Amino acid sequence: MMTAAGLLVLSGCGGGGDDASSSRPAESASKIKVGFSQIGAESDWRVAETASIKAEASSRGVDLRFSDAQGKKENQIRALRNFITQGVDAVILAPVDSTGWDPVLEEVKDAGIPVILVDRGIETTDDSLYNTLIASDFTEEGRMAGRWLAEKTGGDAKIIQLEGSPGADPAIERKNGFEEVVDQHDGMQIIASQTGDFNQEKGQEVMEALMQQYGDQVTAVYAHNDNMALGAIQAIKDAGRKPGEEILVISIDAVRSAFEAMQAGELNCTVECNPLLGPMAFDAVERILAGEEIEKQTVVQDQLFDREGITEEIVASRQY
Ligand code: AHR
Repeated sequence: MMTAAGLLVLSGCGGGGDDASSSRPAESASKIKVGFSQIGAESDWRVAETASIKAEASSRGVDLRFSDAQGKKENQIRALRNFITQGVDAVILAPVDSTGWDPVLEEVKDAGIPVILVDRGIETTDDSLYNTLIASDFTEEGRMAGRWLAEKTGGDAKIIQLEGSPGADPAIERKNGFEEVVDQHDGMQIIASQTGDFNQEKGQEVMEALMQQYGDQVTAVYAHNDNMALGAIQAIKDAGRKPGEEILVISIDAVRSAFEAMQAGELNCTVECNPLLGPMAFDAVERILAGEEIEKQTVVQDQLFDREGITEEIVASRQY
């Protein structure tokens, strides 16, 4: 089921950083037109996801309409409405948070445009408002981090948790999964838990304040993403302590800079969350437009990297 190609409308794309550079009218008339509403560029992970989707669109000859919401949900809602006006054939959405999407997704559905959710899920009373979700199992990622820490410490740790952005699916589920494991061990305790917004500077700032308050007690930091962990590592060093030794540091994403921190002995482990979703997202777009039945959810498989097992080959093979 493909919508009519329609007229190319590029104006009026308010809010966020819309990128119309790939949209030349003469060329785009015969191409599949896909709108991609991205959250922003708050982390290395997200930059890698954007690059993957743009590269895949380009290699398949898709006319991609990209909109960077700069972390703001209202910009994503505006982008979705602009995609309707532009007559896109499909929408790829990475939702900044998990609730409140039904009204705008109803508009997208009424326009006959399929929706592919990537990376984060939403809470909805009507599952027909999106066609498929391609994402990691964030709860399991949290559990993997928790199990690693429990094993490493024999179930004895005083933990600072740096949470992702409030209301975001990965922040909620990585917290739930990790705390599920912590609750199984009497000697494990979360002594402080605050948001660092998935952002390195904010992670550092929050950790600086927490080190002043809990620096004499903390034995481990669990960050919901690598960038916040890297910020925390700096704060721990600034406080005169040794990250990775005196204070264990674990996080999620497995971006290149996390591998460098593991090689430097400052990060203990990272749980992969694969951002290279471009190929799967466009496979889904093509299958839906070809009228195929498509699975409601694809769970991306992740693994844990412990710094003890890191080799030059592993680091060299990383793609993001
Ligand atoms: O939704 C995935 C998360 O969002 C990544 O872990 C984080 O780095 C990003 O900002």
